Amino acid sequence: MASAEEASALVQRLSQLSTDLTAAERENLKFLLSMAAGGVLSGHAQHIPEDLRKSALGATQHSLPKLIAGAREKFPTGVVFHGRGPFLTDEEREALDRESRSCRPRAERFLDHYVASGAPVARDISLSGPIRAFLTESVGPIAPTRRANYLYYDEPGLGIDPHVDKDEFSLNILTMLEHRSSGPQRSELILHPPGREAMRFHLQPGESLVFFADSVTHQRTRTVADEAIRLVSFGYRTLGGTHE
Ligand SMILES: [Fe+2]
Repeated sequence: MASAEEASALVQRLSQLSTDLTAAERENLKFLLSMAAGGVLSGHAQHIPEDLRKSALGATQHSLPKLIAGAREKFPTGVVFHGRGPFLTDEEREALDRESRSCRPRAERFLDHYVASGAPVARDISLSGPIRAFLTESVGPIAPTRRANYLYYDEPGLGIDPHVDKDEFSLNILTMLEHRSSGPQRSELILHPPGREAMRFHLQPGESLVFFADSVTHQRTRTVADEAIRLVSFGYRTLGGTHE
C-alpha cells in the first residue's frame, strides 16, 4: 500500500523524468495522469481502498503542474484571477453575449456539452491588448492560441467530468455570459487543486475565472431541469520565462 512518503517520492521521480521527455512524450504523460485523476475524482475506482485512491490522486495532482514550464508555483490552486475582470469592457461583454446567442444553432456536441468555435468577435477580443497585458503582468509571457469557444450547458444532464486541458488551453479565461436556473440546485464549476479542498465556483454573468486548465483538474457538475449556462472560453499558452 502506498504511503504518503512513497507518493511524494513518486511525484519527485515523475518530475525528474519529465525533464528527459520530449514535448510530445510530456503531453502524453500529462494526459495519462489527467485521466487517472479524473477517473478517481469521478468515482470510477471505488473498488480500490480509499487510502490508496487518495495517495494516487495526490501524486497525479501534484505531478501535473510539475510537467509544465511556466508560472505554476506562484499559483498553488491554479487560480490566477476570479471576478469581474478589468481586461473586458462592458461593451465587449455585451458583444460576446450577442455572438454567443447567435452561434448557438451551429454549436456542436463535444462530450457532454455544446461548443461553437470560429467566432470572430470572441477571437478578436481574446487577442486584445488589455487581456494580453493583464495575463503577461499576472503570469509572465503568454502566447494567444486564437482559441475562443462558446460553451453551452443548456439541457438537463450536461456537464464535463474532471479533466485537465491540452496546451491550447493551458491558461484559460472562462467568462460567464448567462446562468439561468429555477431552483436552488445548480451546476457548478469545481477545481481540484493538489492537497487542498475542492474549490466551487458559481460565476455571475460578466465574471471570469482565469486558471491553469492544463494542470489543475476541473469539472462542471451536471445541469438540472430548467437550467441553462452560456460561457465563453479563451485559451492561451504560457511561455516559461521570468516567473519560471
Ligand atoms: Fe477544461
